[in-house]
Amino acid sequence: MQRLLTGLQPSGVLHIGNYLGALKPFSELYFSFESFLMVADYHALTTLRQKDELRSNIRDIVKSYVAAGIDPNKAVIFQQSRVQEHTELAWIFECLVTVPFLELSHAYKDKLAKGLEANVGLFNYPMLMAADILLYDTDVVPVGADQRQHLEYAREAASKFNIAFGQTFKEPQAKILDSVAIVPGTDGKKMSKSYGNTIPLFEPKDVLVKAVMSIVTDSSGERPENVYQVHRHFRAEAELESLYSAHKGKYKVLKEALIEDIDAVVKPMREKYASISDSDVATILEKGSANAREYASKKMYDVREKIGVSI
Ligand code: ADP
Ligand code: TRP
Repeated sequence: MQRLLTGLQPSGVLHIGNYLGALKPFSELYFSFESFLMVADYHALTTLRQKDELRSNIRDIVKSYVAAGIDPNKAVIFQQSRVQEHTELAWIFECLVTVPFLELSHAYKDKLAKGLEANVGLFNYPMLMAADILLYDTDVVPVGADQRQHLEYAREAASKFNIAFGQTFKEPQAKILDSVAIVPGTDGKKMSKSYGNTIPLFEPKDVLVKAVMSIVTDSSGERPENVYQVHRHFRAEAELESLYSAHKGKYKVLKEALIEDIDAVVKPMREKYASISDSDVATILEKGSANAREYASKKMYDVREKIGVSI
């Protein structure tokens, strides 16, 4: 069976873009592979400084994996920070790649372009992600199109190590989840927690209502494009055509229809989410991380041999 590994950063509350672009496709793919689903908490540390928020976001990711239909007995759900081999291997890769190579990273360049200061963790981010993937001899990595470059970095890290120390790492394949178009947020731009334009996934219905009602509508056209572009992910386009032409210009009615359509999909997941306690999360992460550590520690044993630190 091929091995699949992917991860989500606990850097904010998950939104419907994350569900459609990541959680849903993960839940449809994972059982055809030996699957590892990670909470990339050390990656989130590149942007987050609030410990209560980080802790709550970590739980949010685990509950979201399970609420989206992933069975923790059929996949290894684990926490990156609990498997110390990830940061150890990242260091080794950092010693193999050059500064100009990492300077090509989009995430790093975007930060600089905005005039912000990038921390070294953000700069090294691709090497930690390479370690995440390569430690498990991963075959496929399902990620959104925005992560394509990170996969290339992982392949390069594998190849640089293999050339320097002998064949050790498998070069993984990216499985780009581009079947779902980018879901727009309430302002029509890409929905993203960093833009504050999200429609939350598992929050109570009144929060969903508030977010949908706040979608910016352009009064010049007959069809509220920002509403429609979200709606088409929740109802067949043929049905939407008749709904939107029957209610031309009636934005409130159309938004109410969108709320009901999102709610029909989210309600059972919201209930499942609420049924998972923090102590269930602790158990899942304890078991998953112990399981992951078994693979990672074997691999690192070999790596330490190869680089010459084990004497
Ligand atoms: P955010 O942009 O909110 O910070 P992340 O970058 O953490 O989200 O993305 C986590 C996953 O969710 C990625 O696989 C990404 O491709 C997917 N994703 C994020 N936003 C969207 C969106 N608006 N539409 C589709 N998929 C998305
Ligand atoms: N960088 C990914 C994101 O922002 C999260 C991530 C960290 C990841 N490590 C990974 C994804 C390993 C796949 C494999 O979405």
